[in-house]
Amino acid sequence: MKEKVVLAYSGGLDTSCCIKWLMEEKDLDVICVIGDVGQEKKDLNYVCEKALKVGAIAAEAIDMKEEYVNEYLTKALAANCMYENKYPMVSALSRPIIAKHLVDACHRYGAKYVAHGCTGKGNDQVRFEVAITSLDPDLQVLAPVREWDLLTRPQEMEWAEAHGVPVPTTKGSPYSIDDNLWGRAIECGVLEDPWNEPPADIYSLTVDPQQCPDEPEVAVIGFTAGVPSSVNGEPMSFIDCIWKMNEIAGRNGYGRVDMIENRLVGVKSRECYEVPGALAIITAHRELEDLCLSRDVLHYKPQIEQEWARLVYNGLWFSPLKNALDAFNASTQTMVTGEVRLKFYKGSCTVVGRKSPNSLYDFGLATYDSGDTFDRDSAKGFIDLHGLPTRTWAKQRKDAGAEGVI
Ligand code: ARG
Repeated sequence: MKEKVVLAYSGGLDTSCCIKWLMEEKDLDVICVIGDVGQEKKDLNYVCEKALKVGAIAAEAIDMKEEYVNEYLTKALAANCMYENKYPMVSALSRPIIAKHLVDACHRYGAKYVAHGCTGKGNDQVRFEVAITSLDPDLQVLAPVREWDLLTRPQEMEWAEAHGVPVPTTKGSPYSIDDNLWGRAIECGVLEDPWNEPPADIYSLTVDPQQCPDEPEVAVIGFTAGVPSSVNGEPMSFIDCIWKMNEIAGRNGYGRVDMIENRLVGVKSRECYEVPGALAIITAHRELEDLCLSRDVLHYKPQIEQEWARLVYNGLWFSPLKNALDAFNASTQTMVTGEVRLKFYKGSCTVVGRKSPNSLYDFGLATYDSGDTFDRDSAKGFIDLHGLPTRTWAKQRKDAGAEGVI
């Protein structure tokens, strides 16, 4: 009996060639796992059939959407997840959940190999392999695309044709796209020159801001303990909030990101993202935190958030530090309940209102009008002590005849 390999399959040319390559070069039985993480390509049964047609002995499409939202995006939102303060991490968040299901399939099928179709110069290979081996260090990972020498698309098509792998008949997209519930990542083609403006055809979730409605659109996102729970007063699950906010923000042209990004493997790359719902939800969530969390927590948390994003971007989802940071973030979220009002207008999203039963905003303390409860008398003593160290320092400098040194 042959050994088995579980392959992360997408239905595209790369992973289809992987099936044949694993059969022919490694003499393995191939089991394909297709992760449904809410990507646009909807007909996953067709993708399963294609896997079997190419030669897989089994193919499963696994619906990971609920788990993705509840176990992954909830933690990402608690961390206001943004790599390099710009990228809300589309691909980096989906890799660990897919890896988890690959490992699970290996156990179910008794496979000792697991394979992915990532190239040898991206982050995704790192994420898959680190996640897989941290879940089961005994599994062996195979990365056919990294090993074979079919560098160009025409070479790959030729190999596919010669080995009976269906070759796409239509020209297909000139871009490499990875997408899921949280948004889309688009790279390659003309985007590889960072001076080129992204062409209109890379976008599918957002309207060109110049074509957007002339009237602004307002939307209210509600949160319960840090998790989105309503849109415009209508209670809904986090996943439905994402779909809804993708629609609202998308039709107002909000959520396009064009950036130069530092990959873990040391390469700078030009990346475009389309993340209307994710960015709107993170913007609203941050705003509600500003209202509900104490100053010290708010000032400390961004350090945790940055480290969290760096770890997850770098493939360390299943790691002790990431778990510890999750615990910190979770402990801050119990207070984050309330609503945030956003106004969308031709590509922009502005917070125009926020309220919470846990609000730490005290009108009496803040107001300059009647009803003021702030004790001004205590301000003088506070200032005296707050300024004591610098006053002491200034006096010493002055006595030493050194005034004016700064
Ligand atoms: N640069 C992004 C990341 O590392 C997106 C990767 C997109 N992957 C792809 N196959 N197009 O998270």
